[in-house]
Amino acid sequence: MILTSAGFALCYFLSVATVLAAEDSISVRPFGKTTDGREVSLYTLKNNRAFSVEITDYGATVVRLMVPDRSGKIADVVLGFNTIAEYERDSPYFGAAIGRYANRIANGEFKLDGKTYNLAKNNNPGGIPCSLHGGSAGFDKVVWSAERTTVDNLPALRLTYNSKDGEEGYPGNLKVTVNYVLTSDSTLRIDYNATTDRATPVNLTNHSYFNLKGEGNGEILGHRVMINANYYTPVNKGLIPTGEIASVKGTPFDFTETYAIGDRVNADNEQIHNAGGYDHNWVLNNQDAKLVHVATVSEPTSGRILEVWTTEPGLQFYSGNFLDGRLVGKSGKNYAYRGAFAMETQHYPDSPNQPAFPNTILKPGNKYQTTTIYKFFAQ
Ligand code: GLA
Repeated sequence: MILTSAGFALCYFLSVATVLAAEDSISVRPFGKTTDGREVSLYTLKNNRAFSVEITDYGATVVRLMVPDRSGKIADVVLGFNTIAEYERDSPYFGAAIGRYANRIANGEFKLDGKTYNLAKNNNPGGIPCSLHGGSAGFDKVVWSAERTTVDNLPALRLTYNSKDGEEGYPGNLKVTVNYVLTSDSTLRIDYNATTDRATPVNLTNHSYFNLKGEGNGEILGHRVMINANYYTPVNKGLIPTGEIASVKGTPFDFTETYAIGDRVNADNEQIHNAGGYDHNWVLNNQDAKLVHVATVSEPTSGRILEVWTTEPGLQFYSGNFLDGRLVGKSGKNYAYRGAFAMETQHYPDSPNQPAFPNTILKPGNKYQTTTIYKFFAQ
């Protein structure tokens, strides 16, 4: 391509404008120090609508998500804390990036290429030990490198973490990048990328706890949910998939039509009993890694609506059953039992031990690439 000098000037101007746009729309302030003395920061991404997101480099964590209701009133719709100390001490993964493997791995072990790998058993629902969310210091508990940038000409925060070979028992040096991108709608797009130098399981997600009435404003049982999935993966009492891919038809897990969370969350159903509510992986109807709309949650009193889009084959819908009212959040309110829900886009739990589930092993030379979108409306 031959560029005229005017063309060159225009290209130069556009690239400088792009850089300025990122710096302009992403501000940064200190967020304190971790117990091991590392400074962490809080980044605010804003667009020209009344929509903004705050993210800390500790755990690549979404701390605040400000969304208007149907009358334009803005509220923070995610649970979280005001201080890094509370995130380190008390957080049940509020807003964090989860890795190397989201959700559970049975008995904290898996076999790969003939070798058995042992992981931290940091969770034991029903008295059955397993490894949860990457182990005792998963990606939610590390400080990521942050860079303010643009992706597709949109303001983005790029967070990078190099997970070492053997870290938390997993093989291979894994280089992970999470881009949080704010689009011109009220939309947060999350792009996950990873590469490795040895074969390893990888399953990355974000663990935002949403309450569309506003964080701390009571339980979420009136929120209405649609999930585009005809099947789900039932679990044992340890919340480990049994391996069955079961139809949702005629069960409390059928959200192909919209239901309020509270309609069936206490149903007399073995799967509901095993998990103490909803805490299961839905097998999404889209299995083609195309970015599609997979779930909608609406909250009738505020009019806020959340749409979830993803390239992933699974979705963990969790109804906040482990929240117990003890944690006090950002605005000084206690977070109620079932005071939030999560929509964790993912591969299925325990896939490294379940050969019939979609593959989660990343090999050297291949790229892990997924995208999830949280899109907000009000009506
Ligand atoms: C996921 C799991 C739940 C719970 C939360 C964190 O959603 O599926 O069982 O462990 O994380 O508390």
